[in-house]
Amino acid sequence: MSTQKPLKVGIIGAGGIARHYHIPSYLRSGNMQIAAACDISNEALEQIRADHGVHKLVNDYLELLECDLDIVSVCTSNDMHHPVVMAAIERGIDIYCEKPLALTLAEAREMYEAAQEKGIKTGVNFSHRRTPAAQLAKEIISSGVLGDIHYVSAVYAAGSPNYAKHLGSWRNDRARAGFGGLGDMGSHMIDMMLWWLGTDITAVAAQMSTVIKECVSHETGQPMPVTTEDHGNFIVQYANGALGYFCGSYMFTGRGYDQRAEVYGTEGGLMYNQQRPYELDVFLPPEALKKYVIVRHGGTPDTPYTTIHVPERLHGSLPGIVGQRRTVLMDFVDAYRADGPFQFSPNFYDGMQVQQVLEACQISQTTRRWVDLPL
Ligand SMILES: NC(=O)c1ccc[n+]([C@@H]2O[C@H](COP(=O)([O-])OP(=O)(O)OC[C@H]3O[C@@H](n4cnc5c(N)ncnc54)[C@H](O)[C@@H]3O)[C@@H](O)[C@H]2O)c1
Repeated sequence: MSTQKPLKVGIIGAGGIARHYHIPSYLRSGNMQIAAACDISNEALEQIRADHGVHKLVNDYLELLECDLDIVSVCTSNDMHHPVVMAAIERGIDIYCEKPLALTLAEAREMYEAAQEKGIKTGVNFSHRRTPAAQLAKEIISSGVLGDIHYVSAVYAAGSPNYAKHLGSWRNDRARAGFGGLGDMGSHMIDMMLWWLGTDITAVAAQMSTVIKECVSHETGQPMPVTTEDHGNFIVQYANGALGYFCGSYMFTGRGYDQRAEVYGTEGGLMYNQQRPYELDVFLPPEALKKYVIVRHGGTPDTPYTTIHVPERLHGSLPGIVGQRRTVLMDFVDAYRADGPFQFSPNFYDGMQVQQVLEACQISQTTRRWVDLPL
């Protein structure tokens, strides 16, 4: 039996990600108590009470932050990340915040610097780092077997069959979301490539478009203008000289959640596709390939790359829970409980780095020029 005291968690923003990711992740971590939840919507709070038996439910996040809490999960629309985080830092509460960290780089910097100053433990939910094939790609790239990396391409798109007729939400309102497809989806890939490559982005050139200019608001039932981009893509230069292409979009019609990345080095390459989370397509030197179980041999003109199985040690399987994997938030909780200095990534620094790239994209789109980093 654990001798540690249960960690007390507060949830701010009781929508989809809070109910389907944060709360289950905390509960699977064991010895956690969801002490309180906050939302401006009573319907969302009722759902949390019904699903998870949380009894302290409030509408005002400042009231929630008065509770005795170890950690607060920030799961609101993006516009509220900054005010909620700054108030939590002031009260000395540790923070796990949703992505993108903020609306702007100035906000993200303020959040990072204030957290540093107060010694607050932070995490940002770049949740896709836990995809087993992404873990394997990180392992292979970090081992150096691909040689000098010179090119990456990374795409993350949502593709419903009828996006053109979708109901609008805060995600389509720049004042509440900051960015649309490029920031919402693309932020995951910016983070993933920074994590995989371990080298900074030094320049960006972007283009964005709002294809569907008006939709019907899910909240009011009235027409609303779409002020975020539906689609964005950009090219980058890395500090090590590598080049890259990124795309974040809501408009890959009919493709579902389409997340792919390719990395090419002087000695090898890999192709990652999240729709096949337990496999990776690779071209590796024979010695490196020997370490992995081969699903399908490559080396032919039609199938030049070899498909390998992601080793079980990287699956993040949860004993006794079929079909669910460890999450980045569970890793945060483990790091939180570990002895010694707190060490965890993705944290507010990583969130700020991603925000910087997004901001550079916005400047590039507006000025139609390359933008150098750091800003
Ligand atoms: N990491 C991921 O893979 C992932 C996936 C989905 C969403 N997200 C992020 O999670 C956040 C929430 O997304 P969602 O899909 O759950 O949205 P959602 O609209 O389902 O939920 C957001 C909730 O925040 C509440 N809220 C808004 N303002 C508030 C305030 N002032 N005080 C308290 N509650 C407030 C809303 O009422 C709503 O219930 C966003 O930042 C989004 O980018 C991340």
